[in-house]
Amino acid sequence: MKTLKEINEYWAEHNTCDLKATATQAVFGDGNIHADVVFIGEAPGKNEDLEGRPFIGAAGKFLAEMLGSINMKREDVYITNVVKYRPPNNRDPLPEEKEACRPWLNEELVAIKPKLIIFLGRHAMSNFFPEEKISAVHGKLLKKHIAGMPTEYFLPLYHPAAALYNGGLREELLFDFKKIPLALKKITQK
Ligand code: URA
Repeated sequence: MKTLKEINEYWAEHNTCDLKATATQAVFGDGNIHADVVFIGEAPGKNEDLEGRPFIGAAGKFLAEMLGSINMKREDVYITNVVKYRPPNNRDPLPEEKEACRPWLNEELVAIKPKLIIFLGRHAMSNFFPEEKISAVHGKLLKKHIAGMPTEYFLPLYHPAAALYNGGLREELLFDFKKIPLALKKITQK
């Protein structure tokens, strides 16, 4: 069984994502490697690219605030991204860029073995549930057996950056966030 350090070292060298050429560095996942909950975001932004840590800009501050609202801290969870390199000018990651980072993400998830995987936005969700729309399933606990995945439980949420300056989405995201402890309770009681 590879450690996260070994996984990151391997994929930082062997991944085939074209964004590597323009990004400052790879942004590895961060947080508690024994966490029950893993958050998957989209891709690093400017601050993350410069500092090498996920979710440290405005969206990250909002994420930390929402974790606080359910009595959790960033250190209690593990936070990573679908794509480990910043897309130029923060454009959406392309399907082939997501595909190139997919084995890296899969290995991270296998190493951490979370009970619940939370998608922050449609790019994270589409990797696992290509048929679903985030506007229809946000805040709903989804159960699906996916070969190689350590859990069958997934919770899609709106991306904090999308909700930051949109009052309606912000309210929905704050509301959906409260479902995290309930979902965990449900899963662990089984
Ligand atoms: N948005 C993301 O999806 N990931 C980050 O790391 C930062 C902002």
